[in-house]
Amino acid sequence: MRRLIPVTLLLALSSVCPRAYGQQQFNAAGAINYCAGQAVKTLKVIPADSANLPRNIDNGKTNWRFIKYRDWCSGFWPGVLWYLYEGTGKAQFKTEAEKFTKELTPLSYTPGFDHDLGFQVHNSFGNGYRLTGNAAYKPVILRAADSLATLFNPRVGTILSWPSMVKIKGWPHNTIIDNMINLEMLFWASKNGGGKKLYDMAVKHAETTMHNHFRADYSAYHVVVYDTLTGKKIKGVTHQGYADNSMWARGQSWAIYGFTMCYRETKRAAFLNFAQKVADVYLKRLPADGIPYWDFDAPDIPNAPKDASAACVTASALLELSTFVHDKVKAKTYRHKAEQMLAMLSLAKYQSRDVNDAFLLHSTGHKPNGTEIDASIIYADYYYLEALLRLKRLQQGQSLYARLTHPVK
Ligand code: GLY
Repeated sequence: MRRLIPVTLLLALSSVCPRAYGQQQFNAAGAINYCAGQAVKTLKVIPADSANLPRNIDNGKTNWRFIKYRDWCSGFWPGVLWYLYEGTGKAQFKTEAEKFTKELTPLSYTPGFDHDLGFQVHNSFGNGYRLTGNAAYKPVILRAADSLATLFNPRVGTILSWPSMVKIKGWPHNTIIDNMINLEMLFWASKNGGGKKLYDMAVKHAETTMHNHFRADYSAYHVVVYDTLTGKKIKGVTHQGYADNSMWARGQSWAIYGFTMCYRETKRAAFLNFAQKVADVYLKRLPADGIPYWDFDAPDIPNAPKDASAACVTASALLELSTFVHDKVKAKTYRHKAEQMLAMLSLAKYQSRDVNDAFLLHSTGHKPNGTEIDASIIYADYYYLEALLRLKRLQQGQSLYARLTHPVK
């Protein structure tokens, strides 16, 4: 496994904590305060408009591009606010989180049009319910889970991720690796009155994905196309990656996160083993600073754009994985790697601090489409903050999962 360059690491760590790594741990609490300060700046520039959810700040620009509730990224901003409430206890973040969460309500009574309902509803209403117990949130999440379930094809054993691509691309039943994340809402719903069928569906989707979505080295295809009637795999292709056979960085990070979460929810050893396999190929191929290029096989490395968002998703996933892995050395490695990634992302080079109001720079959304390249993107911020909260809890010897939060200040 390639090691990070010690000097680079030392620089990263010394920027966020007064003493060298090893003597004092990474200052997760300080980084959370930085996020809170940036979010307060964003709150001041939110437009009085129906498109008021921050999605990205393009490279060279300083203003957020705002979206409406139907966009796949709509849940991340409310999720950021809920996490800031969790991390700081400040009433302002709770009030704002409630306001923006409410905007996504129509998703719970719109017929399922995309797999992203988990990103949207679980990150907003789900975090809100976890932290406040607001009874009005529960039926919204349950309805969204039922809506997501309508996209499940039992012949294939997975959710149809992109109904719109059936015609556009000629992909009769398509499942993307990102879809793994949305299973979390099905697991949640199953435990909260939604019925066992949602649990079974999530497990089946994860199992089918485990069998069909990976190459021999455990790198993921972005999209797998299935025959709707026979349920058989037709091909593995890319949409947002460099090539059909390349390892798209964020896709691999969704896989690490998704299978780790599936283990948490099911305690099936197969998922824990698989999470480690997909994590190990990612870690083995990382560049020296621990932040991947947008695609591990991009032909112009080392000049290719980075994807900080993949690093954030992976860091958060590795922290959770480190709590499950039985091999103590391996568990320590996963946690250490996650801390190194967070330390690097907290270095000036990756921070938006002096550039714009987001948390992080240098994420890449859709390179083949020419959009969100080397940009600030809201899901990078969401998973950065989630990882920081997880690390802070681990540093304090607490369980990873906070329930009803502390009283409002
Ligand atoms: N789920 C879409 C993406 O990762 O860009």
